[in-house]
Amino acid sequence: MLTPHQLADIERNPHKGDFPLLAADENMAFLDSAATSQRPACVLDAQRAFYETMNANPLRGLYRLSVAATAAIDEARAHVARFIGAVDAQGTPQADQIVFTRNTSESLNLVASSLGRGVLGPGDEVVVSIMEHHSNLIPWQQVCAATGARLVYLRLSDDYRITPEEIEAKIGPRAKIVSVTQVSNVLGVQNDVSAIARRAHETGAYLVVDGAQGAPHVATDVRELGCDLYALSAHKMMGPMGVGVLWGTREALDLMPPFLTGGEMIDSVTEQGAVWAPVPQKFEAGTQDAAGIYAFDAALSYLEGLGMDLVEARERALATYLTDQLAALDFVDVVGPAEGSRHVGAVSFNVRGVHPHDVASILDGSDVCIRAGHHCAQPLLSYLGVQMGSTCRASVALYNDKTDIDRLVSGLTNVWSIFNG
Ligand code: ALA
Repeated sequence: MLTPHQLADIERNPHKGDFPLLAADENMAFLDSAATSQRPACVLDAQRAFYETMNANPLRGLYRLSVAATAAIDEARAHVARFIGAVDAQGTPQADQIVFTRNTSESLNLVASSLGRGVLGPGDEVVVSIMEHHSNLIPWQQVCAATGARLVYLRLSDDYRITPEEIEAKIGPRAKIVSVTQVSNVLGVQNDVSAIARRAHETGAYLVVDGAQGAPHVATDVRELGCDLYALSAHKMMGPMGVGVLWGTREALDLMPPFLTGGEMIDSVTEQGAVWAPVPQKFEAGTQDAAGIYAFDAALSYLEGLGMDLVEARERALATYLTDQLAALDFVDVVGPAEGSRHVGAVSFNVRGVHPHDVASILDGSDVCIRAGHHCAQPLLSYLGVQMGSTCRASVALYNDKTDIDRLVSGLTNVWSIFNG
């Protein structure tokens, strides 16, 4: 339940006007930010400004434009480090621990391939949770098949938690890598990553965290999480598509061989071999999406301008209202915790007897955008025994307000009456 103050807060919407796509269609309820967020004008402007004022291939040129493009990437790297708490004891951002990739999937593939093949052997274990997105699952399945390691699952309690007992039982002496999501893209629950980190490190395992659904919504500090590697996507954080991040401790990144090879990731090349550049360049073969990285820098400034505390509080209030409203519909089953306050961004649900694809298509007719399907988390939906292996999912971001959720609720009532009228 929301306090009157929280309710009043989500009735107001001072943010929507910052987002041209949302401002252009007052009647649209965009409730699919877990798939990708909308972008504020300042991010779109930054992307254009890069091409208009500093377009050149970064790192390669000694002339003014290329130097400006290189500086833009260096500044963005430091900004990302600051944003996720990758700073030293004096608070200086550790920019060289930030690797730019295309997205979280690529970051996780990089880790599985590079760290996985380096440290895993027959009989070793990789521990993941049953709520992983396929992007934090299939790369580990592949590397286990290649190395003879075994995939072990942290399962959920009835109230959708990974309990301390489960953590202790499943992360044992054979575990070499533990890889878990910070926030589930289906259930919206936030895992106790610090507790998982403690256990992983007790047993000598590396901890990898999929932050795709965490970093956009909660203030994230990789030191507090205690992980060794952390992946995120810019496009879920008001930034452009095509830019991802991998952060790692110096020890982990130094140990890992490159994933992609080619231009700009070397120190020297001979006819028969190559010496790698230091991190992060070792992992950044080929031309980066420099304009996207520059725009991501602007997206982080936008979020910081609001303050992640405000973002988190507003989104928690929205998710609570959303969960409460769905729970009040007697033809809807929420898949996940009943307490709205436990949802970070996303709430999954089903309309009894109606396929989620039908629900989403009918809602589209009223300009309500949600996602329906398996959400790239098929093992989770099988484990939960969800009918049709599929759910509807509504997910919020700071630019949503109470009206968006009220539109969803009235759209769902319409769906129910179409099938049961
Ligand atoms: N991973 C994104 C989602 O959960 C696409 O929708």
